[in-house]
Amino acid sequence: MPDLNEVFRLDGKVAVVTGAASGIGRSVAEVLAEAGARVVLGDLDAAGAEAVAKAIREAGGEALAQGCNVAVRDEVDALVARASKDFGGLDVICNVAGVPADGPLESLSDEEVDRVVAINVKGTLYGCQAAIPAMAARGGGSIINVSSGAIDLPVAGYGLYSITKAAVAQLTHSLAQEVGDRGIRVNALAPGATITAFTKRRLERDADGNVDAASLEQFVGSMESMSPLGRVGEAVDQAWLVLFLASEASRFCTGQIWRSNGGATTGR
Ligand SMILES: NC(=O)c1ccc[n+]([C@@H]2O[C@H](COP(=O)([O-])OP(=O)(O)OC[C@H]3O[C@@H](n4cnc5c(N)ncnc54)[C@H](O)[C@@H]3O)[C@@H](O)[C@H]2O)c1
Repeated sequence: MPDLNEVFRLDGKVAVVTGAASGIGRSVAEVLAEAGARVVLGDLDAAGAEAVAKAIREAGGEALAQGCNVAVRDEVDALVARASKDFGGLDVICNVAGVPADGPLESLSDEEVDRVVAINVKGTLYGCQAAIPAMAARGGGSIINVSSGAIDLPVAGYGLYSITKAAVAQLTHSLAQEVGDRGIRVNALAPGATITAFTKRRLERDADGNVDAASLEQFVGSMESMSPLGRVGEAVDQAWLVLFLASEASRFCTGQIWRSNGGATTGR
């Protein structure tokens, strides 16, 4: 029986995290590094990703960063190749990068559909495709995608986003069937409201761009009221679930959507 403290550790493992400059991706990179993984951080915001990598290194971890637009296959391939080149392989990929999309379905333009599908769906697929051969070469690995609670709770004006995150959930279900024979597990988070730049985007701001405290409090209150626990998510709540899914502790888990949402979709 493995030691319980070892089961959740990632010493000797290499992980790629996209969307790592901010919010959930940042917290995932920090937690995986704290658990002993060497982490490669990718983000459209290259400077932001480097700042997170630097903070991880200063805390004693091993991390490097690379600019990456997940909507461009070559850039995702290059991110995974960096993990192999600098850290010797790949064991975990967490495809976190994603964008919101606001507006009613009936008036969506082709350009907006293409933009959001390219990042949220194709970007996730590219991450999975790049990871498979690298993981298979090491006898297995863990792919963790990021869907959303929006797949369970339809909200008017948020349909395109929900469509792309439902696609991520189905990608996860289907891919798990195809790569299990190579020891690769594929799971997805479906986070509920988690306080990040993403969720704060529609809040009122002052002239300096700071979020208005009263509107943040009102927003947090409305999100808390959706959860039987009476709480809203923090980025680290998602990162701890990612740690479980990345580690040996979840070795019997694949093809699942993990609804990390404070119970917001239960009892409805
Ligand atoms: N925060 C929530 O409540 C919530 C809920 C459900 C799902 N999610 C999902 O979690 C993921 C992370 O969201 P977050 O809340 O941390 O948001 P965030 O805005 O704080 O972080 C998103 C990061 O992705 C990066 N990014 C955006 N487009 C990119 C691209 N094309 N290529 C590479 N990087 C890109 C951004 O630069 C940013 O660093 C997203 O996929 C989002 O859909 C978030």
